[in-house]
Amino acid sequence: MNRSPIEIAPSILAADFTILGQEIKAVEEAGASAIHVDVMDGHFVPNISIGVPIVESLSKATRLPLHVHLMIERPGEFVQAFARAGAHRILVHQEATAHLDRVVASIHEENCEAGVVLNPATPTVMLKEMLDRIEAVLVMTVNPGFGGQKFIPQMFEKIRELRDLRSRYNYGFRIAVDGGVTPENTAELVAAGCDSLVAGTSIFHTKNPGAAVRQMRQFATEATSQRV
Ligand code: DX5
Ligand code: ZN
Repeated sequence: MNRSPIEIAPSILAADFTILGQEIKAVEEAGASAIHVDVMDGHFVPNISIGVPIVESLSKATRLPLHVHLMIERPGEFVQAFARAGAHRILVHQEATAHLDRVVASIHEENCEAGVVLNPATPTVMLKEMLDRIEAVLVMTVNPGFGGQKFIPQMFEKIRELRDLRSRYNYGFRIAVDGGVTPENTAELVAAGCDSLVAGTSIFHTKNPGAAVRQMRQFATEATSQRV
C-alpha cells in the first residue's frame, strides 16, 4: 500500500472551543492532514468530552478528514452515528470491545477507515489477527482521558515492533501516536516508524498553532528523508 507522507492530526481537545472554527482554519492553512476528535464517555476513560454534534459541525467547517477517536464503552453501537456525522477514520480501542473484528467490519461498511487503538499496557500481539485489514494502529503514548500528559518513553519499543511487523508482512496500516507528541519528539517518532502524529497541547496551547503544525511538518519531513 502506498501511504502518503506523514499525517499531522491536531487534536481539538486542547483547542479553545469558543473559537473552534478559527482554530481549525489555522491548522488547516498550516498544512495539517486531518483533525483528531477525542470522544470520551466518562466510563471507558475518567473524563467526558464531545460527541456526534461536534463532528457534524466540524464536517461542515473543514475539508480536512476527521479522525474520530472513540474512548467509549460499546464503541460498535456508535460507529454508524459518527460515520454519518462525517467521520473519515474511526479509531476504536482494542480494550473496549470483545468483538473487534465485528466493529472493524462495521466501520468499513460505513465506508470509513478503521483504526485500532492500544492503551500503553496492551501489547501489539492483541492485534495480530487484525493487522491485515485495518488502516491504522494508534499507539497511546499516555493513558487516555486527558490532554497535556507526559509521553511514556517505553512506547517506542511498541512502535518499532509495529514497524517491523508491517514491513515483514507488507501490511498497509499507518502507525499513529497520541499523547505527549511535540515538535521536539517528532523526529524520533518518525525515525521509529510513525507516520501519523496526533498532538493537542503542543499545537493549540501555543500562541501560534499554525506555526506549531509547520514546525512538526518540517521535522517530520527531515526525519523521513533520513530514513533508510
Ligand atoms: C488523550 C487523547 C489525545 C489528547 C492528546 O486521551 O486521546 O488525543 O488530545 O493530547 P496531548 O497532545 O496534549 O497529549
Ligand atoms: Zn486521541
